Amino acid sequence: MSNAPVAIVTGGAQGLGAAICIELLKTGYKVCVADVQEEKAKEFVKEQEPVYEVFDLTLEKFHRVDLLVNNAGILNEYEPQKVMDINLVGTIYGCRVALKYMGKSSGGSGGFVINTASIAGILPASALPVYVASKHGVVGLTRSYGLPYHFERDGVTFAALCPSFINTDLLKTPVTLKEGQDFSKRTDLMSPEYVAKGVSKLLEDKINGSTLVVSLDGYHYIDIPEELKCYVV
Ligand SMILES: NC(=O)c1ccc[n+]([C@@H]2O[C@H](COP(=O)([O-])OP(=O)(O)OC[C@H]3O[C@@H](n4cnc5c(N)ncnc54)[C@H](O)[C@@H]3O)[C@@H](O)[C@H]2O)c1
Repeated sequence: MSNAPVAIVTGGAQGLGAAICIELLKTGYKVCVADVQEEKAKEFVKEQEPVYEVFDLTLEKFHRVDLLVNNAGILNEYEPQKVMDINLVGTIYGCRVALKYMGKSSGGSGGFVINTASIAGILPASALPVYVASKHGVVGLTRSYGLPYHFERDGVTFAALCPSFINTDLLKTPVTLKEGQDFSKRTDLMSPEYVAKGVSKLLEDKINGSTLVVSLDGYHYIDIPEELKCYVV
């Protein structure tokens, strides 16, 4: 059996998730794609087979999991419950499952969790209050699980990826509060491949609780303000 590390990527059938899968394959990971679009996910996996070593399709077949990328997400200001369920609650459960399977306190060997938040996890956006709330939640969740208490217990590193606008389907049919606003026409859209390199950076740097902003200016960590650190419990 190969010793290659194993990653699970949610929302991995297209867009940023698919680019993250390819980035991970390039760095030697086996990847399990978890997406609601089953057919698309299968198609994507099949396309990669000739290029890379054949890898297992289902979690049951993997004998180890080293990395979970909680990447699935939607944007729809008129369905707040659904947005919170997928973007935030889904990520919360993802983190919990990761701790259960990889956490040393439950017999695992430790590991890594990368949560796809957004620059909307740090900044406000007048057209997207619900999306912004869900992504602020993801940043807070990641920073909290990234505190020493959890690492000492479980040996799992948590980090958040916070990209600005990416050229994916998410922006092509965005349901926002501002009618006619078309994010997909912005001139500063990033390619999913460029953003996915942020995942490699997070894996290399291994800074627990970190939030990496990815914009056309590059890859920059945003820390909590120094004067507030005394309130972190
Ligand atoms: N596109 C952007 O500008 C942008 C910017 C910052 C962050 N993000 C975040 O990046 C992530 C990926 O988005 P994208 O831009 O690639 O969009 P996308 O719509 O192209 O891809 C999202 C993928 O998630 C899948 N998905 C949706 N709900 C799911 C669920 N419940 N379980 C599993 N899979 C599910 C979809 O089927 C799709 O394959 C999201 O979390 C999004 O919020 C996107």
